[in-house]
Amino acid sequence: MQIDEKVIHQLERLHAKYATMGQDMSSYLEGLIESDYLTYWDYIHLDTLLTLQNPKTSYPDEKIFIIYHQITELYFNLILHELEQIASVEISIGFFQERLHRIVQYFKNLIASFTIMIDGMDSAQFLKYRMALLPASGFQSAQYRKIEILTTSIENLVSVSKRETMAGKGFDEQFENIYWKQGATELATGKKTLTLLQFEEKYLSELYSLAKKYEGQTLWKKFKQLPDSEQQNQELIDLMKEYDTQVNVQWPLMHYKSAARYLEKKPEDIAATGGTNWQKYLPPRFQRRIFFPELWSSTELEAWGTNTK
Ligand code: HEM
Repeated sequence: MQIDEKVIHQLERLHAKYATMGQDMSSYLEGLIESDYLTYWDYIHLDTLLTLQNPKTSYPDEKIFIIYHQITELYFNLILHELEQIASVEISIGFFQERLHRIVQYFKNLIASFTIMIDGMDSAQFLKYRMALLPASGFQSAQYRKIEILTTSIENLVSVSKRETMAGKGFDEQFENIYWKQGATELATGKKTLTLLQFEEKYLSELYSLAKKYEGQTLWKKFKQLPDSEQQNQELIDLMKEYDTQVNVQWPLMHYKSAARYLEKKPEDIAATGGTNWQKYLPPRFQRRIFFPELWSSTELEAWGTNTK
């Protein structure tokens, strides 16, 4: 058999690779002969993936609810993957803009597909199976909180009622007043909902450490590290603003519509599984979470959450 020049060169490179680590190339080639061909289903772990849906009731639409949450969490994971890369590299405007564009694409899909939750499930079934899910709530999505932490400074995540008094205060005090803690705490008694207690027990120290770790490397801080002229790049500013609106207005509005579709009832709304005062807690015009306040005009800031732009 005539062995191709190219293959000989590849064998030499392979030999060099294994020799560096004190390994015998021939044994590895033997392993290659023995190993199976890769299949699609093994590569993406399809069989495992399809065992991860375990409804708590026999209502068929519960499967839609589970899978759509899983899809969202996978997208959140892709978004975090990009934010982590932006944080870890010496930034160039090209890399920053390209990765931010990917994030915006992911959110665009999440916003558009939320109709699956708004009108893609039978309301009567939803109201039944949700009772078997207490006190679980999307409120407990740690990846959602991580996206915020990797994007902006903690001071912008302080609950709106405390934002002014907490301005300029230390990291710990601001973190203690982060909006989601306030949102799931009864103001009069200071009592936390079970949903929040569970969430904090599992994730609070991880989220705190993450926020500390990324304090100087958030998307915003990375933007501010770009040369002044690049920070004035209108295309980039528009992209930053688009992301801010997607996360803090458009997605919350779509999400709110789903809560309203199933939980709004006359004369009294239905309580949420996570126990928040959801009509007051969820709407972006009340939350007023804004990642990059410096990029918006005072008129735009005032109108936050009142239109979808
Ligand atoms: C029919 C569909 C849905 C309804 C009715 C709904 C309802 C709610 C309600 C009422 C809350 C407030 C917390 C509570 O008291 O439970 C909440 C929070 C939350 N949900 Fe959903 N949800 C739905 C779908 C989803 C999906 C698909 C996700 C994707 C992961 C999600 C993620 C979240 C997040 C991240 C929060 C916290 C929001 C914040 O703190 O501002 N939800 N949801």
